[in-house]
Amino acid sequence: DRTQVAIVGGGPAGLMLAHLLRLRGVDSVVLEARPRERVETRQRAGILEHGTVDALREVGADARMDELGLPHDGFELRFSGRSVRVDMQELTGQRVMIWAQTEVTKDLIALRLSQGEPLLFDAEVLEVADVETDGPSVRYRYEGAEHVLRADVVVGADGSHGPARRAIPEHLVRRFERIYPYSWLGILADVAPSSHELIYARGRTGFALASMRSPSVTRAYIQVPNGTDAQAWADEAIWDELSARFALDPGEHADRGSFTLARGPVTDKSVTPMRSVVTEPMRHGRLFLAGDAAHIVPPTGAKGLNLAVADVRVLADALGEWFSSKDETLLDAYSDTALRRVWRASHFSWTMTTMLHVDPDGDPFDEQLALAHLHHIEVSESARRALAENYRGLALGTV
Ligand code: DHB
Repeated sequence: DRTQVAIVGGGPAGLMLAHLLRLRGVDSVVLEARPRERVETRQRAGILEHGTVDALREVGADARMDELGLPHDGFELRFSGRSVRVDMQELTGQRVMIWAQTEVTKDLIALRLSQGEPLLFDAEVLEVADVETDGPSVRYRYEGAEHVLRADVVVGADGSHGPARRAIPEHLVRRFERIYPYSWLGILADVAPSSHELIYARGRTGFALASMRSPSVTRAYIQVPNGTDAQAWADEAIWDELSARFALDPGEHADRGSFTLARGPVTDKSVTPMRSVVTEPMRHGRLFLAGDAAHIVPPTGAKGLNLAVADVRVLADALGEWFSSKDETLLDAYSDTALRRVWRASHFSWTMTTMLHVDPDGDPFDEQLALAHLHHIEVSESARRALAENYRGLALGTV
């Protein structure tokens, strides 16, 4: 078998890339190791940047998003019993969309299959080979037999544990990592969101986030110690902790001091560790990495999915140019271009994370720095604008 671009991984990065390439007249085959059902149900991110929304429109996977997604103009920060609203729409002229990654993935899969374009599930990639030649290949197992897919280019969009990046020799890889001393316990609950906008809180006992998936489904997170077992937390204890962390000082916010969090049946509970990883370079020969295969950000600020989509937007333009004119300029720049945004998002995610979490080792200096940052955001419109620009995402080419 032969194609122009062999895409390892059928998550949002690989699927979006396949669609963008098709619009540029480039053929691809997408190989996904897991079953379709698993890809379509795993609970992941929920916030789409303006540019991610644009990409979904470009490929024509926007109908259900426009019907069911929730555009958000702003979000709220809470700390020390105070509340600050960041009005993205007013500060930047743009907003974000609440639309679950699982829904994005479902739409990208359905569109691909409706086009009759190749997308294989349960196709386990065993090896990416010959990336230093102009004839790279992917060896994979499908329906009990081994196959080889030859291509001009291989893209590794196969997540942080995927096989693709092993095709880059160890001695050429630089790996940067930060492990945070806390995790997130996340819940989904069948109850209407208590606030129409997201609330990010630095509570006395740690971070909390009130989010949503729809007008009738609440998504919420609390900071917990690393190693926490999600099942060890009773539902009522989670709601109690969320309520305590969102509590406002009634003297400061007489109107909202009585904020109560609506509780409902918890349908999903899981723990996510918080870490940041960047591996450089994102290209070796004819292999290009995109999304989690090259970088992980902690969830605070919701950059992971958006970074993956930004990678493949840059890559699709570069590959489109190369296949049509043999001009390698954009392809040669891909790794540096993508990494510039990755580090911007890594810095933003670090800022949001450290500003809003309580370090269990209790460094009082760090605590005061976090509060100083929050106070600055409260009093300074330019500080709010900088936060809003990063949150709603920077346009391609402006990072
Ligand atoms: C969600 C996750 C985030 O990391 C975030 O910053 C905002 C929202 C969410 O899952 O809804």
